[in-house]
Amino acid sequence: METAGAGGLKDRIRSDWDHAVLVCRKCSKRLDGGFGPDGGERLAKALRRHLSLKKGRKAAVGIVEVNCLGVCPKGAVTVVDGAQSRDWLLVRPGADLDELAGALNLPAGRRG
Ligand code: FES
Repeated sequence: METAGAGGLKDRIRSDWDHAVLVCRKCSKRLDGGFGPDGGERLAKALRRHLSLKKGRKAAVGIVEVNCLGVCPKGAVTVVDGAQSRDWLLVRPGADLDELAGALNLPAGRRG
């Protein structure tokens, strides 16, 4: 591991993420899919696949499922763009993933 320093606050670990996107896990579970080519995938997985992202911290973008964000929209998934955290998105099933990637400032179809 690439950690340095003795004190806890000085420890660092590198990641290749240049964006972090938070996707509500509970919204995703409630929709039971709704995204991807057949509409059977959860949003986080469908978006990762759509953008051909690697896994974990080696990915160019971190798309992370998180606990309920307290919005709990009906028929949509709450999504937070870490770089624009004042403006959350409510993403409906079947949403165009290129459009979503654009709204999140993620280049569509990027590798990594
Ligand atoms: S269930 Fe997703 S924001 Fe609460």
